[in-house]
Amino acid sequence: MHVFQKKSELVSYVNQSKGSRGLVMTMGALHQGHLALVREARKAADTVIVSIYVNPLQFGPNEDFDAYPRTLDADLALLEEAGVDAVFAPSDAEIYPREPLVRIDPGPVATMLEGKTRPGHFAGVLQVVNKVLNLVRPDYAFFGQKDAQQLALIRTMVADLDMPVEIHSVPIQRDTAGLALSSRNSYLSEIERTNALALSQALKDGVEAGYEHGTIPEIIRAAVADISENPKLKLDYLTLVDPQTFMPLQPDFKGIGLLVVAAWVGQTRLIDNMEVSIG
Ligand code: PAJ
Repeated sequence: MHVFQKKSELVSYVNQSKGSRGLVMTMGALHQGHLALVREARKAADTVIVSIYVNPLQFGPNEDFDAYPRTLDADLALLEEAGVDAVFAPSDAEIYPREPLVRIDPGPVATMLEGKTRPGHFAGVLQVVNKVLNLVRPDYAFFGQKDAQQLALIRTMVADLDMPVEIHSVPIQRDTAGLALSSRNSYLSEIERTNALALSQALKDGVEAGYEHGTIPEIIRAAVADISENPKLKLDYLTLVDPQTFMPLQPDFKGIGLLVVAAWVGQTRLIDNMEVSIG
């Protein structure tokens, strides 16, 4: 497995690679969620390239950029075992030799939900995704449904800018108790991890209410109860959106909605989502 720190090394490798290329972008601290993306890439593409880069542009000033787990050696061992061809693990100076002047404007969806609590987050995500797509020029790029709003915005960017890549999404990987895998789960104490199960439980109860032909307010009420009943959790948002556009659903909507939730468990902010059939 090749490991490149420099853009020039990566680009030379890409230029001589044969057949199709698949890209999986990550911030490292890899877990089975990331590895599910790698497996899909391995199935689809001749050459699989994984990036590991904790992108400072997508963290707010009071967020966890410094604390974010960095476990490069363990990550490389996992990727080697998964049959990855090349890893791009650049430094900050390599990616941002200076403050970028030209920026991606992610549009109105980036001001809602995650973007409302984390201003500038999606602009930072799209900036780095655009850069790494330009370096790797993959046929396919793989993103997790875990970060559904990010996935929707990347799809919108690719469509609006006619970027020559096929975006593939991969379902959320969970632990046996239902907690969505996340690099940030490493911040949780044992007891917080148990409390964090309320997020997936809330979504399951929302899905259940949907099956029982619940209206949108009934679905939300069923889901919110799991979180508001637990004093150890602080709800940021819990709402139903259109899975493609991320716009709020009209009260008379029928079809598949995406129930999205964000909550703090102690100091740790977690997100999760599930599809709900409405009507
Ligand atoms: P990161 O949080 O490391 O996630 C990298 C990719 O793994 C994303 O596409 C994310 O949705 C996916 N992923 C994470 N947990 C998952 C899970 N439990 N199940 C399925 N997929 C999961 O997302 C980012 O990094 C960054 O914003 C990035 C796109 C790399 C840009 O910096």
